[in-house]
Order: sequence, then C-alpha cells, then structure tokens
Amino acid sequence: MKAREIRPGIEWMGAIDWERRLFDELIPLPEGTSYNAYLVRGSEKTVLIDTADPAKTDALFAQLADVEHIDYLIIQHVEQDHSGSAPLVLEKYPDAQVLASPKAVSMIEDHLGIPADRIRAVDDGETLSLGNWTLEFLHAPWVHWPETMLTYLREEKVLFTCDLFGSHLATDDLFSGDGSKVCEPAKRYYAEIMMPFAGLIKGHLKRLDNYAIEVIGPSHGPVHDQPQWILNAYHHWVNDEPKNLVVIPYTSMHDSTAIMVDYMIEALNDRGVHVHSFHMSKTDLGEYAIHLVDAATVVFGTPTVLVGPHPSIVLAAYLTAALRPKLKNAAVIGSYGWAGKAAEKTKALCETLKADWMQPVFTKGAPTKDVFSALDALADEIVTRHKGLESGD
Ligand code: FEO
Repeated sequence: MKAREIRPGIEWMGAIDWERRLFDELIPLPEGTSYNAYLVRGSEKTVLIDTADPAKTDALFAQLADVEHIDYLIIQHVEQDHSGSAPLVLEKYPDAQVLASPKAVSMIEDHLGIPADRIRAVDDGETLSLGNWTLEFLHAPWVHWPETMLTYLREEKVLFTCDLFGSHLATDDLFSGDGSKVCEPAKRYYAEIMMPFAGLIKGHLKRLDNYAIEVIGPSHGPVHDQPQWILNAYHHWVNDEPKNLVVIPYTSMHDSTAIMVDYMIEALNDRGVHVHSFHMSKTDLGEYAIHLVDAATVVFGTPTVLVGPHPSIVLAAYLTAALRPKLKNAAVIGSYGWAGKAAEKTKALCETLKADWMQPVFTKGAPTKDVFSALDALADEIVTRHKGLESGD
C-alpha cells in the first residue's frame, strides 16, 4: 500500500498485515493487524515516527523510496513490531538521529543493536522544532512497555500514540470515523494489551485532558480522525466499576463440570445476572479477554486432572490474573473422580487477582441434588454481591 496523506505534511506509512493470525504466539488476530509509521514533514526538519514489523520492511521501504532525507527517527516503543525496521531505516538515512525516552536507549541497543551514539534521549515534555511545527514528547510508561512515549504535534493537534488507542485490525480504511467498525477490535486490543496497566492509563488520560486533540495516530489499526469516541471508550474501560456480568471459563472431560456450568448459567439468568461462558479448549482467548473488561465475577469451571485444575483452566486462571481485570468476585466449581485440590490450586494461580473468593462447589462424579443446591446458593451470593451494578450486556 502507498503512503497516505492524513493532513498536508503528515503521511501514514507502514503495512497492513491482512494474514497475520497470532501475535506473540499467544494473542489471536482474527482480523489481522497493521504496523503504522508516520512521516511528518516540517518546513525545516523531517521526522519518521516508528517503523514497521521486520516482516514488512519492504512495504515501508517502498513508501520511503522518494523520501531523500529524514532528520530524526522517533522510536516511541521498542517492541519489534514498531521498531524492527529501524536498523535498516538508519542504514538508508545515515545522518538521521534516533529520538527516544531515556529508558528506551539501552533497550534500543539491546533489542535492535543500534549504537548509543545514534540515539538521543528526550525528556518528558521536551519539544523539538521542525520549523513551522513543534513536537512535544510525553513519556507514557507501560503503554505498552516501561519506555513508551507519545508524540504530540502541537500546531496540528495530532497525537501519535504507538500501542495506546490501537486496534488489531487489517482494513484499507485510513480513518476510524465514528468508531462503529473499530470499537470492538479496539476493545479486544485494550483487553489483551492495555488492561494490565489500567491504573497507569487513568493517569495518562488525565494528562491528555489538557491537550487539544483532533487526530490520534496509533501504530495498529486505523487513524482516529474523530478521536472522542476512543478517548471516551478508554475512560469507560479503565473505570473501576464492573457490570452485572459473570464470566465462566470452563472445560469438561466427562460432562460433570459442563452440567454444573449449564446449571449455573440458568441459575444466574433466572436471578437477573448476565453470563458469558467460554469453553477454554475451544474459545478464542481474545473473546474471553474482552468480556473480562466489564465482568464483576469470574467462576472457573474445571474437572480435576492429576490433583489440580485441567491445564486449559490453568491457562485461563493464569491469564485472568495477569490481565488484571476489575473483577471483584471469584469462585471455582467443578468435579473430581476420587480426590483433588483443583479449587485451591486454581485460586493459587490467581494470586495477583484482587477478588474476593466465594466458597467452591465440587462434585465427586456426577452432580447430585446437594451439588445443585450449592450452586443455587452460589448464584444467590453472586446476586447479593452484584446488587446495584449496571446491566452487563
Ligand atoms: Fe504493538 Fe507493544 O507493540
């Protein structure tokens, strides 16, 4: 794809990756992704902001074919999907200097092999004149790594944000417009990449309230030409208050746990609680993560395997805790053949989850009347704990 003009003097570059289906060998990309770079031509200085994944260097270089000179390459974030083409860009432009946050300097040397004498650290709030335009650098740690920074083009009110406000979405739409096509991929992206850092993002959003922003250029997915919808969405997602929603990640080997999960779904529905269950041996982890953004309660459903939870629930529990959602309550239900500690071991995997754990419900073999009564009691407990929460659609 050719470079595309966002505004006079500001071009989108990079690559649309239509076919990529997995990121970090973990995160499903059902709609592909893009790696966005931005060329900003001031009256005196030209700047390239970020690059492209090494697999797509050719696409970036085709767009740079007629660009004779760049003064600066800004590396906002060192992860290779944005910085991976930087060494070759610097070979093409031997006079270009890398600008990055102080934390990024050693990371750029370590990850990309770029020598320190080509890199200049920029302070938080530091400005750079491009002649007619001014860039301001805003350190924004943990969106997505500790070295990340944003870049604000003052006169044009354009904010370049790298991973923040991005979406894994391959599309030939340059702009996200009113967000109707991009909101779901952006929420998935938030859930998978940004949610662990929600507390810090709150601070970044507060800071950005002081900036007039007409365009947001993230490094994945379309450019936000009507940025209010994505800013509003982020304010909502990082909000502490969850919804009246229970997520049930589960798996089942001989149906006992599946029968309990089905019963639990109905018991909660009958009591006015919205539920979404995920068969973890079959589900897309991103779908599960999206629902964690709003859920107030997680109920893990697991059979017992070698004394502990089923391995797919080990993964679910580990990811649930690692993503640090705003869950307030947690429980484990499931089954065992003769003995086991699946509930205790599942809870132990969620050490970092700030949730209040309810009494587990387990059945030896097929669930009995007493087990269903215990599930009813658990559903009642969840209803009490969810009182006053907004509907969880
Ligand atoms: Fe899109 Fe953290 O890299």
